[in-house]
Amino acid sequence: MLIHASAEENKISKNDKYSNINQDNFFYNAYYKSWDLQGWRNKIIKVLPKIFKNKKINVADLGAALGDKLFLIDELCNIEKAYWIDYSEVAYTYVKKKFETKNNFIFYKDDIIKSLDNIPDKSIDVIIMFGFLHEVQIDHHQILFQKIRKKLTDNGIILLSDNNLYFSPEHLYNGLIDSKFDGSIFTKCTEISKIKFYFELIRNTKKNKIEKKKIRFVLHNKRIDSIVGFFGKESEQLTKFLFK
Ligand SMILES: C[S@@+](CC[C@H](N)C(=O)[O-])C[C@H]1O[C@@H](n2cnc3c(N)ncnc32)[C@H](O)[C@@H]1O
Repeated sequence: MLIHASAEENKISKNDKYSNINQDNFFYNAYYKSWDLQGWRNKIIKVLPKIFKNKKINVADLGAALGDKLFLIDELCNIEKAYWIDYSEVAYTYVKKKFETKNNFIFYKDDIIKSLDNIPDKSIDVIIMFGFLHEVQIDHHQILFQKIRKKLTDNGIILLSDNNLYFSPEHLYNGLIDSKFDGSIFTKCTEISKIKFYFELIRNTKKNKIEKKKIRFVLHNKRIDSIVGFFGKESEQLTKFLFK
């Protein structure tokens, strides 16, 4: 496993990266439908209207960067409130301008643990964590999961998609299950051209260990994240919509 950058180092590197962004980057991320990593994450987002139909929802995107995923969700779903959370100042300046006409968008430019305290308990229907958790210090994961638990409505869901650079899928699965979430973690096992295969992790309580159980697959042309997770009451539905 790699050495984790500190929050300060990460902020500097993200500010540098976002200083070079332009409109094309934003629309590339929001609309790159069918192939690379952003397309993969967009594919996950596209299951949301199937779950919520026309229901008004509150959404929080953690580590939301340019806000392109909130933009896409806003096009596909009926958003009551959208929370953008990220500690990058450059990304904050960008999204404040980009969404200046959106009165239902709320922006928190601070560390995630602190930012979540601003959100009323049991008010969020959807929490997005795309490419985010691997940047959060591992020893903050448990407190983060507990905070998320408090903020979600009873029917709220978590969508996560990430790499496994700094932690194992088992670490994530244990952390979320221990924080009383129901759901699944899928970990990429192999790919044959555009057919991407994932194992689903299952906790075997008798043997007190996590096993790689079912194999599922999904079609996607290029890069995908190596870990995908769906948690909350609708996690089985989400799984059915994304995987074969
Ligand atoms: C790799 S980017 C992912 C961006 C976007 N979610 C996507 O899918 O492309 C991770 C983002 O999380 C933010 N971030 C990382 N750790 C954070 C923390 N502890 N609190 C707030 N934001 C954080 C970074 O500033 C960065 O914009």
